[in-house]
Amino acid sequence: MPAPQADQGQAAQPSPSGGYSPWRVCVAPMLDWSDRHCRYLHRLLTRHTRLYTEMVTTGALLHGDVARHLRFDAAEHPLALQLGGSEPDELARCARLGQEWGYDEINLNCGCPSPRVQRGAFGACLMSEPQRVADCVRAMRAAVDVPVTVKHRIGIDEEQSYGFVRDFVGTVSESGCTVFIVHARNAWLQGLSPKENREVPPLRYEWVHQLKRDFPALTLVLNGGLQSAAQMAEQLQHVDGVMVGRSAYHQPWLLHDWDAQFFGHSHPAPSRDAVEAAMLDYMERQAALEGTPWYAVARHLLGLRHGQPGARRWRQVWSDHRLKHQPARHVWQLAQQALHAGVGEQGAGPEPALSGCAPTSAPDPALTPAPAYSTAT
Ligand SMILES: Cc1cc2nc3c(=O)[nH]c(=O)nc-3n(C[C@H](O)[C@H](O)[C@H](O)COP(=O)(O)O)c2cc1C
Repeated sequence: MPAPQADQGQAAQPSPSGGYSPWRVCVAPMLDWSDRHCRYLHRLLTRHTRLYTEMVTTGALLHGDVARHLRFDAAEHPLALQLGGSEPDELARCARLGQEWGYDEINLNCGCPSPRVQRGAFGACLMSEPQRVADCVRAMRAAVDVPVTVKHRIGIDEEQSYGFVRDFVGTVSESGCTVFIVHARNAWLQGLSPKENREVPPLRYEWVHQLKRDFPALTLVLNGGLQSAAQMAEQLQHVDGVMVGRSAYHQPWLLHDWDAQFFGHSHPAPSRDAVEAAMLDYMERQAALEGTPWYAVARHLLGLRHGQPGARRWRQVWSDHRLKHQPARHVWQLAQQALHAGVGEQGAGPEPALSGCAPTSAPDPALTPAPAYSTAT
């Protein structure tokens, strides 16, 4: 069993959610996208949104480099570990590892349609075996104290009846699972790529609303296609929580006022410049501590100025791999120059003036490290 590392999640503290469900607003698990660098960025923008790791398979954890998969920064709480697997015993061992490493929740993936995942007989194909999912959850719950939750679809393949997902939730909830995150479209296990499986099968939000009516004691979180705070607020009229994936990744600035809008918190919102400066500090720390190249972090930043004057040229610099041997601070200076040149070209006013040029390591008041939050249900 690995010893917890210094930058790992610490013990949870009292919930800050002011009486709101801890699942009220979540950022989705996204393979290759929601890594720890991405989550660090998201946490600069919102303290109360619940974050999810990429899916980690039981095989990767039980036979691979545990630290590589599980380490995270204490600032990332509240943070859920998503597991992919279908063997109760293996999932229980992995859930225990997750708890030991400080995760606030263990989530089981029953929604991923990728053929590679199907060969391992987990992900969305588990929806056809609700009793197995219940056994998995039961074993995981027996192994940990933190909540064990399930993320799933509303159906698989051509299955078009609400009764299918209702019975799935009913059976799995008998294992004691009380939180269900529902991607509100079917997964087609044949004929569609994972990307098409996030776009082609129609969204049916009303089925998730119906699940909430049929299981009022459960926490139901709606996922799929949400692109704005207005849409999130609308869905929160019907369900306990919303989960946002692609929009959060492509436009991270969307997250900057979620604490105010959805959790009633009034701490000052950071500026885009302050977030970029904090990420530069983070890149430098990661390079010094672990030799992480700046572009492994910067790739998650590219949408930060989406729609802003100068954004295109700024983004080109941060994604220019010809600069990969340059120090991050130099790339940042080039990006700032490109931003302001781009603003001039478009004839639009710049963003609020930069205070000086070089970001410092002194904490911006709006960017003080987020405390470790509790996930007590
Ligand atoms: C690049 C990418 C990777 C994803 N990886 C996972 C994953 O590891 N586990 C999972 O449950 N869902 C995964 N998803 C699905 C998302 O969690 C989410 O359910 C889906 O994108 C629908 O939400 P959205 O419309 O807000 O993006 C992934 C989505 C994307 C775009």
